[in-house]
Amino acid sequence: MDLYAALRPLIFRLDPETAHNLAFGLGERLCAWSPLPRPEHPASLRRKAFGLDFPTPLGLAAGLDKGATLLPFWKALGFGHVEVGTVTPRPQPGNPKPRLFRFPQAGLILNRMGFNSEGAAVVAARLKHRPTGLVVGGNLGKNKETPEGQALDDYCAAYRLIAPEVDYIALNVSSPNTPGLRNLQAPEALKPLLAGMLDLRKEMALERQPLLLKLAPDLAPEDLAAIVEVAVASGISGLIATNTTLDRGIVDPPLRDLVESKGAGGLSGVPLKGKAREVRRQILLALRGRMPLVACGGLGSAEDVKGALDEGAALAQIYSALIFEGPTLIQRIHSGLR
Ligand SMILES: Cc1cc2nc3c(=O)[nH]c(=O)nc-3n(C[C@H](O)[C@H](O)[C@H](O)COP(=O)(O)O)c2cc1C
Repeated sequence: MDLYAALRPLIFRLDPETAHNLAFGLGERLCAWSPLPRPEHPASLRRKAFGLDFPTPLGLAAGLDKGATLLPFWKALGFGHVEVGTVTPRPQPGNPKPRLFRFPQAGLILNRMGFNSEGAAVVAARLKHRPTGLVVGGNLGKNKETPEGQALDDYCAAYRLIAPEVDYIALNVSSPNTPGLRNLQAPEALKPLLAGMLDLRKEMALERQPLLLKLAPDLAPEDLAAIVEVAVASGISGLIATNTTLDRGIVDPPLRDLVESKGAGGLSGVPLKGKAREVRRQILLALRGRMPLVACGGLGSAEDVKGALDEGAALAQIYSALIFEGPTLIQRIHSGLR
């Protein structure tokens, strides 16, 4: 029986953040209570990307486990990798509530969490007890009050603490909920940011650790091509596409008014699928195989994941579909992929 499906009407009656906190409380107890069994993946699902071995191409996208509190749980669900974060260097509360809205009728989520983070020191301490056999990435961002011009200092401060504890790092320059953050995607801002991070990586003797960049779906094709060239020239290891979108046009009109009435934020889930796919297509065209791409955005079935991999992505990540479908989705995706 799918317990999540049975409880879904109840869960979805709760305020989304209350439901999230309840689920995490339960998950933490499960993790502490017993060594959770882990599903065995067949060898056919294994992938190698940016020099790392992944037991399956399917991972949990950033933003759900911001503080690395449930890693054994995600491993038991069957994920091959988990991207922890976004972690900011110093703790910050994020935006005022309400800041998370779900629209189950469309498989859509609107969020303006604004990087609620316990801060890099707390998350790094927790990561020291991370389970083995799960690839863990650290997704980094800047604090809200840090001026755009000093963003590199923030990414470096978070990197110093998080990088030694994880398998790869993702630089998040694409969240729409931190004012000015997405300006860091502009080539003239991106170049010094990537150069600075790669210098620090070298200084810390972590050259072999992959450094990825996570992009927004709201970039024009010519900007995307320029960003890809900066990324390739910099020598970073790969890209993740995409983050949430600001584009309300992805929502059909009857629901769009309701979504708009909830205010600012990024959209994710089923309605993002086509847009994220098109952005990935453009990125892959521009990349010409020069670095791997991780697919994210609107993926919610084995067909979606297989489609993204067939189109050229090295790995795939999900978030919103997990909220709507529950933990059995991971098993279903893996069965389909097999
Ligand atoms: C509530 C929520 C919070 C998120 N927080 C982050 C975050 O902190 N950092 C980040 O890089 N992406 C964050 N994301 C974006 C997801 O990682 C993912 O890129 C996006 O949701 C698209 O995938 P999906 O359609 O499968 O949800 C968040 C998404 C949601 C729904």
